[in-house]
Amino acid sequence: MTENKFNKQLISFLSKSVSPYHCITESKKILKKAGFKELKEKDKWTLKDGESYYVTKNSSSLIAFVYIKGMENKGYRITGAHTDSPCLKLKPVQDMIKDSYVQLATEVYGGPVLSTWFDRDLSIAGKICYTTNKDEIKTTLIDFKEPVAIIPNLAIHLSRSEKNKEVGKQKELPPVLFQSSGKEDFNKLLKNEISKSGIKNIKKIMDHELFLYDTQKPSISGLKKEFITGGKLDNLLSCFAGLQAICNGNKKASSILVLNDHEEVGNTSNVGAQGPFLLSVLERISKTREDLWRSFDNSMIISSDNAHGVHPNYSEKFDPSHKPLLNSGPVIKYNANQRYASNCETTSIFKMACDKVKVPYQSFVMRSDMPCGTTIGPTASAKTGIKAIDIGVPTFGMHSIRETAGIKDCYLMYKAILSFNNIEVLPI
Ligand code: CO
Repeated sequence: MTENKFNKQLISFLSKSVSPYHCITESKKILKKAGFKELKEKDKWTLKDGESYYVTKNSSSLIAFVYIKGMENKGYRITGAHTDSPCLKLKPVQDMIKDSYVQLATEVYGGPVLSTWFDRDLSIAGKICYTTNKDEIKTTLIDFKEPVAIIPNLAIHLSRSEKNKEVGKQKELPPVLFQSSGKEDFNKLLKNEISKSGIKNIKKIMDHELFLYDTQKPSISGLKKEFITGGKLDNLLSCFAGLQAICNGNKKASSILVLNDHEEVGNTSNVGAQGPFLLSVLERISKTREDLWRSFDNSMIISSDNAHGVHPNYSEKFDPSHKPLLNSGPVIKYNANQRYASNCETTSIFKMACDKVKVPYQSFVMRSDMPCGTTIGPTASAKTGIKAIDIGVPTFGMHSIRETAGIKDCYLMYKAILSFNNIEVLPI
């Protein structure tokens, strides 16, 4: 796949993946097009040698794999990324009317840069559960697409004495939805929106998992068009690179892609990296438990999640010898306290995979006097016992509503993961 074609598809993927559910919907489309077959978690699986499959959980996590019989001797090339991004989530009860404005009650999901959520054209997307006239509970995805909500800033004239104060999560974040006419019913609005997609048989809206997102589309930016800006680059960039890599692999090695929800809130859920999803799939594709455990020593996990590129206005925030640059290749992340899973064996394997396809790489370690973030890497590695590495595309403004990355880096990341996926036997 050429870099141009890759970036075109990347922008389309970023634009459509407005919630973890929509990210999985788009991922399924890519996998289906590449010949992957869907499995259901509740069914009995009969797998064919050389075929490719995927299975989803809660419509927000997914595992795709290339099944190769007897792979316990060669192990798995596993890539992990996460489908969720820090944002504002709607609370269950929506009955907020203040000064005649209908507002949305919101809860903060993960750790967004809250100041970036003001004065944006926001929309709503996510999953809804409803009952039918036959008393079945159905789920559907919803995306309002258009800007429908805004969190207006307070005028500077009214906030002169309050500069640089922390954003009040309860008081300041409810967006304005519309001006009240006195008889508003949020669930009725949802019902109307769902029926636009052709679903008619809705008895009652039961509940929802809805998120706000910025409707501004991703752009190629910078005078020399070197940057890509957009929402949720953390971690849709890695999801897309991983998807393309598993679809375009040589299928000689058994590659696996794990896309987990709930990384931004600590991985602990039935669909997060702390849950049993990956281990259960590995167990189901192994003939015996002995084969399963044998395969682990021959396997490796790449945890791909965005990294920090050195910001020219704040370069003192970086360790002087570890300042990743945008457009200079994947960043290998190190942390002595296992906040990142990299060790010298896994970094050597990854560097070799990069060297093979002439992909440059860089290293990142946090300043020694600053706390370090984490990823699904250490969790997935601890859960399975499979060795792992943490890598990522360098970005500016991680967790801002709009992040910036180098336009070359996602393609370089794809090439690096593809080269890793094509390793038949680990060289160690
Ligand atoms: Co992330």
